[in-house]
Amino acid sequence: MKSTFRATSNIALVKYWGKRDAQLNLPANGSISVTMDEQLKTETTVEFSSKYKQDEVTLGERKLEGSERHRVVEQLDILRHKAGNKEYARIVTENAFPSAAGMASSASGYAALTLAASHALGLKMGVRELSVISRRGSGSACRSLFGGFVEWHRGERDDGSDSLAEPLSPAAHWKSLRNVIAIVKKDPKRILTRPGMNRTVLTSTLYQRRLQSISIILQRVRKALEEKNRAELFELVMRDSNSMHACMLDSYPPLFYMNEHSHKVIETVHALNDAYGEAVAGYTFDAGPNAHVFTEDKRVSTIRKMLSEISGVENVMVCKVGNGPVELKQHLF
Ligand code: PMV
Repeated sequence: MKSTFRATSNIALVKYWGKRDAQLNLPANGSISVTMDEQLKTETTVEFSSKYKQDEVTLGERKLEGSERHRVVEQLDILRHKAGNKEYARIVTENAFPSAAGMASSASGYAALTLAASHALGLKMGVRELSVISRRGSGSACRSLFGGFVEWHRGERDDGSDSLAEPLSPAAHWKSLRNVIAIVKKDPKRILTRPGMNRTVLTSTLYQRRLQSISIILQRVRKALEEKNRAELFELVMRDSNSMHACMLDSYPPLFYMNEHSHKVIETVHALNDAYGEAVAGYTFDAGPNAHVFTEDKRVSTIRKMLSEISGVENVMVCKVGNGPVELKQHLF
């Protein structure tokens, strides 16, 4: 009744923003991501036992309470219900994300939790079904069930059973691809993704335009990945990030997730690409100001140096494409 898994984060090349069903976490559009290496990992041990009188959730040194704990309990309830088991659990989770980074860890977190809890309960589920369940905890988590390059299908069914992630190609397909992450100074307030997405869906007119063009974008990104067409991919990735952030800004009241330091990174990457006469790097931003700059290994040192010199950039790290989750023999308690 005890199991431990490691999962790593993923960064979307075509972004998921907006839900068609908030309760089931169903996306309004499909998305494509790259799973990151173990620098961005979460490890989670789950044990179900009659000795626990309630679900106890610990993240690092912190015991989770309130809504944070509630979200984890809801995810366990889905799996307990499937297994016909009513026992409470102890959950211990460690994130390896650099402490100052403040980077989103819900993707790796809910992927590791779903894998460890389903194993601990003895559920024999295929990876497609696990992806559907991870999606309930956090949308982007369904993509972290796989290594390499991954597509999360929007799905058509109301019950969400066809809204799951599938691998497009393994990490080995494009070994030289790197994500150079610039961690920038934060602004204190940040609107969470759930209310943020909701506001965009309800108030942005630009958002409808985004949804209309997304299937063509997905098709072009799939092809650029397959052909390892660097310049095409990087341009599509930058345009898609800009499109999502434009919809955020077009929401009412507007949502700002990037800041002046993020804007500086954008200008710097375009200046570099102009100097080369083609896209040798492509940035993308999630619901926060940190920059993810995709490039190939031969350009990493130039880009690392360039990003480090931007005011407001506090740390730069270089991630490779990761291989996806693994079961660990060593438990966290
Ligand atoms: O991880 P979630 O379900 O809260 O949503 C993540 C949304 C973005 O990171 C902005 C885009 C994406 O596709 O990962």
